[in-house]
Amino acid sequence: MVVRITPSILNANLANLASEVGRIPSADGLHIDVMDGHFVPNLVMGAPFVESLRPATNLMFDVHLMIENPDRWARQYVEAGAQSVTFHLEAATAPIKLARELRSMGARASVALRPATPVEQLADILTEFDQILLMTVEPGFGGQKFLDPVLAKIRKARKLIDATRKDIWLQIDGGVSADTIERAAEAGADTFVAGSAVYRSDNPDHVVASLRNRALAAQVCAH
Ligand code: DX5
Ligand code: ZN
Repeated sequence: MVVRITPSILNANLANLASEVGRIPSADGLHIDVMDGHFVPNLVMGAPFVESLRPATNLMFDVHLMIENPDRWARQYVEAGAQSVTFHLEAATAPIKLARELRSMGARASVALRPATPVEQLADILTEFDQILLMTVEPGFGGQKFLDPVLAKIRKARKLIDATRKDIWLQIDGGVSADTIERAAEAGADTFVAGSAVYRSDNPDHVVASLRNRALAAQVCAH
């Protein structure tokens, strides 16, 4: 199996982002959190910001929209340079239509679920997406505690994805650290967002490598 580590820059030094992204050369992508102050009680980063950051790195941009009405706003993040755009199922009016639009623009389409949203809601539309993001904290802030009840949902999502025989990535986001990544990988996640664990460390790239190794070892044990 594969492990991807996509650090979140939410807890990086936002005044020096161009140099902060240079501190994680071995990451598989950069997770950029967008919040609108409505879908979540926090406000950060929009499309102009993504566009300005684009020349600073070659890393894939994995944009996570925690906003109302993604049907209206998501496409502009592809135009701003995102290779993958995640929107929340709870916020989208027409998720299939939106996923198809994102794909037609050449981006990966990804859908996110809050911790309490059942994964079964995706069962019939899974192949419309390139990635499923299961939140392992309530979205809105970095530095929260990993919610263990989501592990059962990761297992269910893994089964649903395997049954499609498609290469759909299973990403988790929230509270990912050396203490939690192994159980999430064992449950079937393959793509891991880590914010504070990476950027509150003196050596972010070392944390990326060690998270990757832990996840890989846990996957081997699980299979
Ligand atoms: C939270 C964001 C996360 C956040 C993760 O709503 O979606 O991407 O940055 O931060 P940690 O890893 O600190 O939980
Ligand atoms: Zn996120």
